[in-house]
Amino acid sequence: MKVLLTGGAGFIGSHTAVELIEKGHEVIIVDNFVNSKPEAVKRVEALTGKSIKLYEADVADKQALEAIFEADTIDAVIHFAGLKAVGESVKLPLLYYRNNLDSTLTLLETMRKYGCTKLIFSSSATVYGDPATVPITEDMPVGNCSNPYGKTKYMIEEILTDTCHADPSLSVVLLRYFNPIGAHKSGLLVEDPNGIPNNLMPYILKVAQGKLAHLGVFGNDYPTPDGTGVRDYIHVTDLAKGHVAAIDYANNHTGAEVFNLGTGNGYSVLDVVKAFEQASGKPLPYVITDRRPGDIATCYASPDKALAGLGWKAELTISDMCRDSWNAVQKNPDGYPQ
Ligand code: UFG
Repeated sequence: MKVLLTGGAGFIGSHTAVELIEKGHEVIIVDNFVNSKPEAVKRVEALTGKSIKLYEADVADKQALEAIFEADTIDAVIHFAGLKAVGESVKLPLLYYRNNLDSTLTLLETMRKYGCTKLIFSSSATVYGDPATVPITEDMPVGNCSNPYGKTKYMIEEILTDTCHADPSLSVVLLRYFNPIGAHKSGLLVEDPNGIPNNLMPYILKVAQGKLAHLGVFGNDYPTPDGTGVRDYIHVTDLAKGHVAAIDYANNHTGAEVFNLGTGNGYSVLDVVKAFEQASGKPLPYVITDRRPGDIATCYASPDKALAGLGWKAELTISDMCRDSWNAVQKNPDGYPQ
């Protein structure tokens, strides 16, 4: 199938491009490079031996998007593009609402105009807010998010679901990601965040590289086994394969369906520190600091519905994730070149 990836030069998009191409799909990418670089696409081409049609454009730019749909008959879209920094979204809510909602609306309108009926959306476990119980199943309440970024994910899920109800020919798959880390085993693809990272693994990597002095562990008084926050870390290659499974699913179903993409295992911050030290052979200095506002104690998926519906489950372990993250950073110590 011909699959358009919005935000396909990003961390998850580029890994998904590799897995799609390896399964015989043709990939087209549109990216505005606000938080990614064209080099990621070159690396995907090098890895797969296939050339990728790449458009530099904003998905909210209707004319640019229509030109992409004019040029090719696109069978399905995976919509990764969006702003994603939780803290920034609290400071700049209008930017987040305008950007994430506008781009989705423009994409949907354009897909309808060109008769493209299959859409996979990058949602997030953040839509569950602070879950009443774990593991989290897809039927648990959503929408009580603590920040505008999370709210855009929830609102887009609602927009897509309503649109599906109104048009029974549409097929939408909402994928709720847990915590993607790791990197392609080749070390050619790397997570390349702007500025000082907010997320745990990118921060750990900077400390291991000696670029930051120590990791701050945000609180050790949570009701968890060692007091630090528990999350469901998932290897980005497993996550990418979940998208390939979702494309197959969308091909055979209509309507909106939601799946968690997680492993079903919870690891604490200190578990990750330990796993990273073992995988890298480097000590990782850390200090316990205050809790980060908005953080929850524990979040991990029930992966059962994804297994039953998509025939997909995560295969790689936390030590695989740490090893591959470290390998990719050692091969790309300063991220991608400009
Ligand atoms: N943490 C630290 N120190 C750091 C960074 C993180 O102790 O420097 C801790 C956090 O407190 C949390 C855990 O590491 O317990 C994971 O934090 P991340 O920031 O890596 O991930 P979050 O679970 O907070 O957020 C991620 C994504 C969001 C998404 C959310 C819920 O970044 O986009 O999962 O799915 F919304």
